[in-house]
Amino acid sequence: MALVPPHIQQLAPYKAGKPAEELARELGLERIVKLASNENPMGPSKQALHAAGEALLQAHRYPDPAAYELRTALAARFQVKLGNVITGSGSEGIMATILRTFLFEDDEMISAANSFIGFRVLAHASGRNVHWIAMRDYHYDLEAIAAAINDNTKIIYLANPDNPTGTYFQADSFESFIKQVPERVLVILDEAYFEYAAHLPAFPDSMRYRLDNVITLRTFSKAYGLAGLRVGYGFGHEALIGNLLKVKLPFEPSRPAQAAALAALEDSSYLEQVLRLNDSGMAVLLDAFGALELAVIPSATNFITLVLASADIARLLCEAMLKRGVILRHLASFGWPSLVRVTVGLPTENEYLIEQLGGVLGEISKQ
Ligand SMILES: Cc1ncc(COP(=O)(O)O)c(C=O)c1O
Repeated sequence: MALVPPHIQQLAPYKAGKPAEELARELGLERIVKLASNENPMGPSKQALHAAGEALLQAHRYPDPAAYELRTALAARFQVKLGNVITGSGSEGIMATILRTFLFEDDEMISAANSFIGFRVLAHASGRNVHWIAMRDYHYDLEAIAAAINDNTKIIYLANPDNPTGTYFQADSFESFIKQVPERVLVILDEAYFEYAAHLPAFPDSMRYRLDNVITLRTFSKAYGLAGLRVGYGFGHEALIGNLLKVKLPFEPSRPAQAAALAALEDSSYLEQVLRLNDSGMAVLLDAFGALELAVIPSATNFITLVLASADIARLLCEAMLKRGVILRHLASFGWPSLVRVTVGLPTENEYLIEQLGGVLGEISKQ
């Protein structure tokens, strides 16, 4: 259609993991275990739920466009000024604002091929030239990314830890990379899985560096268990954040989202429980995958990515698991046809996954 620019016509709609309700209906299954979208299996903190409920009483009013309370709490928690903080509809919402705010004329972007699909969609929709740099051994190749910088480079996007591989780049690599990035180039450091990786000694917490051309993005969708409410946050130099605040949709995040995020941030015992549950679930799954002789990519997140022997096996595995009510993520659409991503679930969900996986692998090996 002539009204639609070619770069938009070429896009395919985002395909999320199958909703559990849809699968249950289609297959007449009672038990559905959804381990496809790296969601927090514990559900939201009770305090966050309560705050969101209270905020619903004001649903007829627009939310505070400055998200003053939430931004003030984030600024205090991370020891920055209010002017260094932005909130939005998920970290992806802020990513979209960043692209809208800073790209102009012949600006180009660089990122890793086959990394976070959300950025890929936004980058394609921007119609800009993007240099996609191949990963090395499932890790970002920061040297190759630095070498790809040219006069038109405006934005570099890095997810650390990465989704869907679960790997992270270490402080020494980041430090030598950032020295090669001119100040006119903006680096988006997407730390959606920060809370899961923060304890790792070599993890480069971007907030430690306070670099003027880096915007850190984090989210309440993962460790804080609020994916459905859509609330993310970012930190950066006042001049960058000030411009983002001019461009962002004024009323994102919604009032219940702001209230829930504020309460979640203050509920430190919930976060501790989430991280403990993730650690123990990760250990159980790694043991079981080892026993089943499945290769995995070591992960610093709340998911584990399996490396299957072929694209066919990965596909068959996901299809057979789906029939048994376990939703996994085949990573073909990310550009990794032999990989399958598994989110760490509740102990009972992990057990069910392991039980079913044993049967399915036996069936596949006979085919
Ligand atoms: C690397 C990465 N960044 C961002 C997001 C999106 O987070 P949000 O829900 O805050 O938009 C995800 C979600 O899967 C992710 O994996």
